[in-house]
Amino acid sequence: MTDQKNHAHPVDQLGRPMRDLRLSVIDRCNFRCTYCMPAEEVGADFPWLGKNERLSFDEMIRLVTQFSKLGVEKIRLTGGEPLLRKNLADLVKRLNDVPGIRDIAMTTNGILLSRHARELRAAGLDRVTVSLDALSKSKFREMNGGFDCPNQVLEGIDAAKDAGFEHIKVNTVVRRDMNLGEIVPIIEEFRGTRIVVRFIEYMDVGNVNHWERDQVVPTAELIQYISNHWKIEPVAKHYAGEVADRYKFSDGGGEIGFVSSISQPFCRPCNRSRLSADGKLYTCLFATEGTDLRSLLRDGSSDGDLHERIRQVWCDRNDQYSQTRWGGKTKKEQKHKIEMFYIGG
Ligand code: GTP
Ligand code: 5AD
Ligand code: SF4
Ligand code: SF4
Repeated sequence: MTDQKNHAHPVDQLGRPMRDLRLSVIDRCNFRCTYCMPAEEVGADFPWLGKNERLSFDEMIRLVTQFSKLGVEKIRLTGGEPLLRKNLADLVKRLNDVPGIRDIAMTTNGILLSRHARELRAAGLDRVTVSLDALSKSKFREMNGGFDCPNQVLEGIDAAKDAGFEHIKVNTVVRRDMNLGEIVPIIEEFRGTRIVVRFIEYMDVGNVNHWERDQVVPTAELIQYISNHWKIEPVAKHYAGEVADRYKFSDGGGEIGFVSSISQPFCRPCNRSRLSADGKLYTCLFATEGTDLRSLLRDGSSDGDLHERIRQVWCDRNDQYSQTRWGGKTKKEQKHKIEMFYIGG
């Protein structure tokens, strides 16, 4: 194993620095998306994290300060549904004060966004990404587990615009048997605005979503389909390691994107770390094991101890799950992948 001790900003076994931290603030969600936590699998008796099991804001800030010293510049708040965590704007405000953090974003299902957009913007949230898989009520219900409120999500997006968010994205997970017919209406809804829709290949995350490959619509096929309606052309990524491939409408109608984890994996430049709401550090979305940082936070360990633990985990990292498809794991190990709603995507 290479010793990276002399690097202020460590790189992992494949030479990748740590730049992003996806910070899950709660595992609960008010939706039951079929591709994430289907209602028949995740019922009322699910063992959610209790209040004391979740990291406090003080604990998160202590950790983020160390992540930042190790190279993290960008924080993405995730869940479950992050807006179910009380006083989230207070956390955003405090994250903004951590030296080195220059971008704070959030991925939300949008249902509570109209209520919180203004305070989040005022607290310094830079960007917001809203999941929206269908505009028709029946398809929305099918995808999101029985809720038919696309209008409330659209109101949330409007509220984000009104609150002054300049960078708003929409995430649409595509399932072949469910929402292919929604692609064109969703594009029509946002074309000509500055809101960027990204179509996401349905991924084999977690263990409960009954993922099947034939439900995945590969990006190449989707681009072909969209090209029957509009001419689109590729645009360079903003930075190496960006998850989505960018495209623009040739007629000036704005931009769309594609996240192709299945058909064109993007592990090579992956610089993302993930922290669960109970303080476990994961170095891949498809991980089976995390590193418990909460016990260090609560047993009197120093900031230096935290720093060293995180650094070591990153230096040992060699994840490239999507690239090697099953990450070299056995079928049995794959059954214990962490759930999407636990780690926030
Ligand atoms: P920005 O580039 O900052 O806008 O964010 P993002 O696209 O990385 O984050 P977002 O939460 O919007 O995620 C979009 C989709 O990409 C979701 O389905 C995520 O689960 C997926 N995703 C994000 N990071 C990774 C990753 O490292 N690996 C894989 N396989 N999927 C990822
Ligand atoms: N495949 C692809 N994307 C998913 N998301 C949740 N589960 C899956 C999956 N199985 C998306 C959500 C949200 C983001 C965090 O991840 O729709 O936009
Ligand atoms: Fe909730 Fe997001 Fe999972 Fe849907 S994808 S169930 S909104 S955490
Ligand atoms: Fe990074 Fe793992 Fe996603 Fe590959 S599968 S891009 S290593 S998080």
